[in-house]
Amino acid sequence: MVGLGMIFDETYRPFFERAQEEGIYRKSFGPTSIELGGIVTRTGHRAARYLANRPKTDIPCDSFVGEHGLSELLQQTDINVVCVATPDDRHFDVSIQAIRSGKHVLIEKPSVLTLVQLDQLQAAAEKHQVLVKVVYHKLLDPDHKKLRTHVANGILQHVNNGYCSLLEPKSISGSQFAEWITGRNPSTYVAVHYIKLIDFTFHTDWQLHRITATGQRGLVDSPTGPTWDSNQIQVIYRYPDGREAAFDIHTSWVNPDNFPGYVDQEVQFRFDNGIWNAHQRKRGVEIAVEHQSPNPIKYTPNHHYNGSFIEPWGDASQRGYGIEVIERFFEEVAFVEFGGKTEERRSRLEKMQKLDYNDIRTDRNTVAIVQAVEAVLEEAVQNRPGSTVFVNHSKGGLVLFSPGISEPRVLYAGQV
Ligand SMILES: NC(=O)c1ccc[n+]([C@@H]2O[C@H](COP(=O)([O-])OP(=O)(O)OC[C@H]3O[C@@H](n4cnc5c(N)ncnc54)[C@H](OP(=O)(O)O)[C@@H]3O)[C@@H](O)[C@H]2O)c1
Repeated sequence: MVGLGMIFDETYRPFFERAQEEGIYRKSFGPTSIELGGIVTRTGHRAARYLANRPKTDIPCDSFVGEHGLSELLQQTDINVVCVATPDDRHFDVSIQAIRSGKHVLIEKPSVLTLVQLDQLQAAAEKHQVLVKVVYHKLLDPDHKKLRTHVANGILQHVNNGYCSLLEPKSISGSQFAEWITGRNPSTYVAVHYIKLIDFTFHTDWQLHRITATGQRGLVDSPTGPTWDSNQIQVIYRYPDGREAAFDIHTSWVNPDNFPGYVDQEVQFRFDNGIWNAHQRKRGVEIAVEHQSPNPIKYTPNHHYNGSFIEPWGDASQRGYGIEVIERFFEEVAFVEFGGKTEERRSRLEKMQKLDYNDIRTDRNTVAIVQAVEAVLEEAVQNRPGSTVFVNHSKGGLVLFSPGISEPRVLYAGQV
């Protein structure tokens, strides 16, 4: 496990703790043990806290720290899988090193920040014959699964446009991410959930066509600096008959900490024959407890994502789609490694690589949009707001057009 921050604590930790206790099982690969054998962090502080507080176990777990930590971890021959939950702009270096050591790799979203990096991960995965997958857990949210089911069954037809928003509280930008937030933006961090949802759910014979973005600065850092408070991005796809579909995605990490929707989330999609609106605060539970709300007991908790429960049969459990998505990845690895004869491993690997909800091969549009958004925001920082990136243009795969500059800039030469 590389990175032991917020997402480790919410999803990986409960997965590993249960899997170490119970293992995982499917008929196709049989009972399989999972052990968290090593952890790598920048400073070792959160790692030490985790090791001191984890449930009592005989399973050894070594802590590696600093710039050589990962190489030291990778020298352990009994590691099969590396999970990468470092800050967004530090996924690539860790992932490529792990793949080159022959490990299966699971990367937190967004996988990487440029298509060139994605090409390198794909080539390395091919060379070393391993799975390289990305966590987009909102695809497993029951409401989003139902949306996709309606689309797949032809109930909701031909999406035309949509609006999604995900607003994080100030505590995220002000303290949780203070170490790495300089020069970063909330789109790369959270809009990717909806970029992926749109690309995966509505995937058809349409083509990604162009991307633009803007935003606001001045709260997290300087009003003219490279660190963004909020972003609004627009992504446009084009159908073969020339009709277009446009999606506006708004994100922020400066919402009031005491807002009832701690992470406020909403999607609206409009089709030729229907409409789908889903709002986190309207689908679930509202609770307020004196001296305990909004923290640690949130006013509008999302128990679909993650919840601690006492099961009707008395066991304590922690479950939800945030954890399920990690378990599913480990099942895919177990299927590749233990799901049949050694000489048929390659065909099992190819079968798992074809799963387009999480494989890096199918992350191209998402990474293209992330790269485009970051380039457009960088133009705005240079006092050139209003740029647009065109996809698979005659001049290249990602081409940036900026107002007042006659020559477009090619961000990625190959086809997206
Ligand atoms: N799926 C989701 O909805 C979701 C939600 C939140 C985050 N995420 C993703 O998860 C990733 C991590 O986010 P987070 O919220 O967990 O971040 P975080 O709380 O800031 O924690 C980052 C962790 O990475 C470690 N780290 C930083 N640089 C490192 C390096 N170069 N090598 C090894 N370890 C390093 C830090 O070490 P120290 O402990 O020593 O500081 C810390 O343990 C991001 O990609 C984010 O987008 C996903």
